[in-house]
Amino acid sequence: MSGFGHFGTFWMVSWVVWKIPARRAVKLAEFSHTEEGSSLDMLAAAESESVRPQLRRKFFLHALDEHRHAQWFAERATIMAPGRSQPHMILEDVSYIRDHGIRGDESLYEQLGEIEFLTFVWLQERQAGRQFGVYVRVLKDDPVTARMFEAVKEDERFHTNYSRLELDRLANAGQVTAVRRAAWRVRLRGFAQTWLRLARIIGDLMAGVWLLLLFAMLAPFALFARYFEPLKGGFLPALNGRERARAQAGSQA
Ligand SMILES: [Fe+2]
Ligand SMILES: [Fe+2]
Repeated sequence: MSGFGHFGTFWMVSWVVWKIPARRAVKLAEFSHTEEGSSLDMLAAAESESVRPQLRRKFFLHALDEHRHAQWFAERATIMAPGRSQPHMILEDVSYIRDHGIRGDESLYEQLGEIEFLTFVWLQERQAGRQFGVYVRVLKDDPVTARMFEAVKEDERFHTNYSRLELDRLANAGQVTAVRRAAWRVRLRGFAQTWLRLARIIGDLMAGVWLLLLFAMLAPFALFARYFEPLKGGFLPALNGRERARAQAGSQA
């Protein structure tokens, strides 16, 4: 049972996320920023001087695809949750891409170099294609969004194929060791990032559990203290109408 197959891990997580109607528009708004971040990274790669003209054209087409996906997701999120909703706030957040670590100052191409960048694109796009395939199956009750994911999945197929073909070309040109090493590095980094994300989620969860336990342990003491020693100073309880009239009459007298 693969993670992307029916009842696989990814399928189950996606089912939980996408079956909550209020979450759908939020997810689409977040995805919109991720796609825009990818578009900017592909544009930066296309601008690089060392890129072959044919590959530059592919990078440029890829950037346009990602920008189009970002627009589709943003439009769908706005239709699903119009007005000043949470998705609207996410879409309006101009710092989202930087604050969420989608892109930094240095482009991914500059950070990784050509072979590792192509490997990253190949593995990421292949995974994205599988993810969108799962979303299409999960969103049968929302055919418009499902059709949009189907179209995105087709574009991801093109991104996966051209990056893989380019890596094969480099391997055939004598760079097979460099390509293999890059694949290892990208995979290891992916595992490390997944592990960190998981550790953060578990950390947040455990912090919540400890706070709840602390509250459950201390609450009886607070109730006892309140019962045996009622508040005398600080804020006073508000007077009701009759008490207020009596107090006023007393002060006027
Ligand atoms: Fe995309
Ligand atoms: Fe893509």
